[in-house]
Amino acid sequence: MRKKVTKAIFPVAGLGTRFLPATKSVPKEIMTLVDRPLIQYAIDEARAAGIKEFIFVTSRGKGALEDYFDHAPTLEQELRKKGKDKLLEVLKSTNMESGAIAYIRQHRALGLGHAVWCARRLIANEPFAVILPDDVIAAEKPCLQQMVEAYEETGGSMVAAMEVPPEQASSYGVLDVREDMGNMVSVSGMVEKPKEGTAPSNLAVIGRYILTPDVLGNLNKLKSGAGGEIQLTDAIAAEIDEERPVYGYRFRGQRFDCGSKSGFLQATIAFGLAREELRDDLSAYIHDIVQMGKAAQ
Ligand code: UTP
Repeated sequence: MRKKVTKAIFPVAGLGTRFLPATKSVPKEIMTLVDRPLIQYAIDEARAAGIKEFIFVTSRGKGALEDYFDHAPTLEQELRKKGKDKLLEVLKSTNMESGAIAYIRQHRALGLGHAVWCARRLIANEPFAVILPDDVIAAEKPCLQQMVEAYEETGGSMVAAMEVPPEQASSYGVLDVREDMGNMVSVSGMVEKPKEGTAPSNLAVIGRYILTPDVLGNLNKLKSGAGGEIQLTDAIAAEIDEERPVYGYRFRGQRFDCGSKSGFLQATIAFGLAREELRDDLSAYIHDIVQMGKAAQ
């Protein structure tokens, strides 16, 4: 029987330079969409997919992340005294079972592949998920859960894939498709950030992966790739060279690139509009400013 995916790596050691000066003292993953930090969306998605062990690859200055998942006895006591049961319930989603969460330091930001490699001893010989918290995905069934269900049928390594316009392909890892099976494609190659006009398809890799432990072995051997970083894409592509299966999974849902300012603002609006208590106010405001903008033209 196929081993279940119960471990997930959350690489959060990046510098977050696109959000400076905010990220000088606030980890990008603690920035909030409405009232929940990005990392909370990632953890909820992982839990829904059956993940039991949460491995954070962190770096200097990310202490706020560790505190976020700790109990806050004084705050909880105060809320209890005031009978604020609903808020106590909200806080519960931030608490982790003892021992379920581990933190590993990436001492230098040498790339996503290197960050994942830093967690190798905690993964040992099991399939594992990788979630990039700055890719936030709104979906009826959470994206990683869709992938775990597909993985249970196929095995191998799997990346979440999304169609992008050709002019954007050079910002992503792009799949070379061997066979298109609808929701899934089998992959014959992967190129990280292809030069304009050279992308092998319009299917881009986004921040959800299910990987076999062989990929960690490939990372062992890798030197730096595109942009001088150790690329996770290269280690997955090496699986194909070894004739082991790699799939792209066309997930159902809307992905927001919350690592970019525009994506973050779009997600803030979308998640705000999705909240019943905010919808009317927010949509009336958006309507008004659009009308004002039109009138000013
Ligand atoms: P990004 O490419 O978004 O880089 O990393 P970044 O440093 O977070 O942000 P910018 O580009 O400077 O604004 C994608 C994911 O990989 C992690 C990041 O934390 C993010 O979740 N990462 C990247 C690492 O953990 N270590 C690295 O060395 C690089």
